[in-house]
Amino acid sequence: TAPRVVTAPTAEVGDVAADVVAAFIRREPTGVLGVATGGSPLDLYSALARRRAAGLDTSGLTLVALDEYVGLSAADVRSYRAYVQTLIAEPLGIPAGRVHVPSGADADDAAAYEATIDSVGGVDLQIIGIGRNGHIGFNEPGSELDSRTRVIELTESTRQANAPWFDDDPTAVPTHAMTQGIGTILDARALVLVATGAAKAPALAAALSGPVTTDLPASVIQRHPDVTVVADPDALSGA
Ligand code: GLP
Repeated sequence: TAPRVVTAPTAEVGDVAADVVAAFIRREPTGVLGVATGGSPLDLYSALARRRAAGLDTSGLTLVALDEYVGLSAADVRSYRAYVQTLIAEPLGIPAGRVHVPSGADADDAAAYEATIDSVGGVDLQIIGIGRNGHIGFNEPGSELDSRTRVIELTESTRQANAPWFDDDPTAVPTHAMTQGIGTILDARALVLVATGAAKAPALAAALSGPVTTDLPASVIQRHPDVTVVADPDALSGA
């Protein structure tokens, strides 16, 4: 099954993606939601918080994050732990005991994170973004399609792309991260990919209709039976 592609104006991408996530939450109020970080899903998370204010009970969810930088403390506001806590868990009323983020520490912790995901029953719905180089999570090009959670080295292009979160200084962006593998991400029962902006157009086009290849990790969405892509016209301009 090819990914379902939903086009929405830039300002509405978050709300349209929130429709998909809210439908899941109504079906499975105690389900496991996989969450991406970065800029793309921010509007989606605020749209979910508005729906909570309007009566959607999000507090029973379990959250599982995709990735974490190596070398930042959990208290560092630039850590993905902090992002997930302040921008997702707190607005959605999810207690810390049901919020899982990789530690970013070492190989033992990578294996432990896989065990954590298993212990909550796997991810039901995984939200993902797409890097300009086609990465998902922090699975940079060259990552094996059956890879599991591990520490990887970030590419220069990814450190450049994420510099805005580090005072626009790419050298301040950690050199390594711990990420769910591509195989780990594919184990989620459904995927929702959110993308906006022309910078994502080449990677998104290749992900949707190019060859499935380690050169473009997001191309594996073609191998998953339940994928919804929500994107603006700029991001879809190459497709
Ligand atoms: C980041 C994250 C990914 C994210 C992607 C795109 O580095 N590790 O989870 O999906 O790259 O980020 P953005 O949405 O900010 O463009």
